[in-house]
Amino acid sequence: MLPEKKILPLHEILNPINSDLDRVEKLIMENLETDIPLLTQVGQYILQSGGKRVRPALLLFAAKTVGSLNENAYLAANVIEYIHTATLLHDDVVDNADLRRSKKSARSIWGNEASVLVGDYLFTVSFKYISAFKNHDIVEVLSIATTQIARGEILQLTRDNTETTEAEYMEIIFHKTASLIAAAMEIGAIIGGANEAQRLAIYECGKNIGIAFQLIDDGLDYDVGNEKLGKSTGVDLKERKITLPLSHLLKHAKTTDKDKILNILEKDEITNDDVAEVQQLMMEYESLKYTIDQSKYYIGKAIEQLYTLPENEYRNSIEALANFIVYRNQ
Ligand code: IPE
Ligand code: IPE
Ligand code: MG
Ligand code: MG
Repeated sequence: MLPEKKILPLHEILNPINSDLDRVEKLIMENLETDIPLLTQVGQYILQSGGKRVRPALLLFAAKTVGSLNENAYLAANVIEYIHTATLLHDDVVDNADLRRSKKSARSIWGNEASVLVGDYLFTVSFKYISAFKNHDIVEVLSIATTQIARGEILQLTRDNTETTEAEYMEIIFHKTASLIAAAMEIGAIIGGANEAQRLAIYECGKNIGIAFQLIDDGLDYDVGNEKLGKSTGVDLKERKITLPLSHLLKHAKTTDKDKILNILEKDEITNDDVAEVQQLMMEYESLKYTIDQSKYYIGKAIEQLYTLPENEYRNSIEALANFIVYRNQ
């Protein structure tokens, strides 16, 4: 389904910062050791379940593009991954998701309560660590991003109906997903000593990567070949979540087709056959193609921002990572 493009595998892209990522990884695990076994167990389970660590990598690459790393960089990258993990623990409760990263979601093993509370802990402990930097800008960036994430998830809850417009969808994905990726990169920029213009370009780059990232995720949810993502196909439809492929389809389908979709959305239980039918219609109306084209457009915007920054190996790594994100299903 995705267009042809040669991309580097993730481990190759991350190669230039392997030893830095090892230090981040060590902190991620050490900081999970608490006196509460349930907390440590759930935290270890999700944090060792194969996350790609894209956000910590973007933070480190952003810092190295404009300057160098200091001690704070490792803990900041750790914090960004904790916040991301917290959002996943909460998101899987909100979405009733049974699978995360090809494994049972934490909530399906320990229950919704544990998943929510461990997520809360990861959020709050993150602010404890970050406030120790005594850097107001970093605290501000992180506070804005976490508020935006919560706002995005709540907006999605209230605006998820068949009338949801593309503009509303874009607002939701900016808040729930792009804000954290943008913040990760902006914090990297601050730590690396970026000037104002560089900091803004890096923020904008992260924002556009984040938008593209969620667009592709929402497209791949309807893609028949998406097993590699470790999530099930058609989950968004089964949860009646209106993402771009579906809102595009609802907007463009002729009345008889639109009625078919609306009937499916009204059923008590949406089956795999229903998903297949919607996938078929998405092919006909090019809804997936539209979503993927939009994702490519935002990655293009992200990469444009990079060209205002010093050209070096790390800037190239951000570009490679941005491309990996859009073409990751290949
Ligand atoms: C998944 O993010 C959640 C979305 C914003 C779509 P990632 O794809 O970065 O998740 P992991 O950490 O690598 O599993
Ligand atoms: C992304 O939302 C999770 C957050 C940004 C909080 P989704 O619900 O679309 O992501 P997946 O598909 O569960 O990873
Ligand atoms: Mg989800
Ligand atoms: Mg969700």
